[in-house]
Amino acid sequence: MAGANGDILVDMRNIEKSYGGVHALRGVNLSIRRGEIVGLLGDNGAGKSTLIKVLSGAVPYTSGEIVIKGRPVRMRSTLDAIANGIETIYQDSALVPQLSIARNLFLGRELRKGPRFLDRLDLDRMNGVAAELLRRVGISKNIPPTTPIGSLSGGERQAVAIARAMYFESDLIILDEPTNNLGVAETQGVLRFVREARDTGHSCVFIAHNIHHVFQVVDRIVVMRRGTIVSDDLSPRTSSIQEVEDIITGEPVAA
Ligand SMILES: Nc1ncnc2c1ncn2[C@@H]1O[C@H](COP(=O)(O)OP(=O)(O)OP(=O)(O)O)[C@@H](O)[C@H]1O
Ligand SMILES: [Mg+2]
Repeated sequence: MAGANGDILVDMRNIEKSYGGVHALRGVNLSIRRGEIVGLLGDNGAGKSTLIKVLSGAVPYTSGEIVIKGRPVRMRSTLDAIANGIETIYQDSALVPQLSIARNLFLGRELRKGPRFLDRLDLDRMNGVAAELLRRVGISKNIPPTTPIGSLSGGERQAVAIARAMYFESDLIILDEPTNNLGVAETQGVLRFVREARDTGHSCVFIAHNIHHVFQVVDRIVVMRRGTIVSDDLSPRTSSIQEVEDIITGEPVAA
């Protein structure tokens, strides 16, 4: 019933996923609360990306249930996820390098002006909103919103993708290895955005191999190993990095 668990935003129940003979997810249960930043950790091939791809509608799951705000939802495509307030950001997000920052922000949801049949884009308004958002996500340099995405750094592109998720009021922002290959300043930028997302009431799932980055921003750590969650209530305040690393590597589990 909605209300009974009012603070649970997303509830994934008994999710199974096989890619042919590869059993990537083995009965995974994961709940994400409103305003919670969850760090999802695990070694290569543990199933982290598969789990968030299931949640973002990018890959179909074999069985299980996804409940969002108390309602069972069938995720058939990324559009289903977006319609349910879930935005996923990858290192190279679905941004179009040739288009401006502003156009990328409104990709697929462009603001228009004048009579409908003329179908004219309201570039001024999109540029205005974009400039404001860039300030909000903390891009300190004065980058005009008309700048093509292709001339931005990886971290700045991340910022644009995050700004988009914020503007469209996504409830949950998923970041899969957003700090890979980023410089120190850019990485700090991404971590700052995650904090900003939480401060504005969004939930996040943050996947990163750099455990120090995860420790800096998350409220709770979930560890996956071989397609299952082996720990789902670790706090970066009470667990040490060493303890979490031990859980990530673990002892080989009998098949
Ligand atoms: N498209 C695919 N087809 C077949 N097998 C896949 C596919 N994607 C992932 N797998 C397999 O599923 C398992 C889980 O992979 P997944 O990408 O979810 O791991 P991960 O935890 O994100 O790892 P990494 O940290 O390396 O990104 C692995 O054994 C992987 O080889
Ligand atoms: Mg992955």
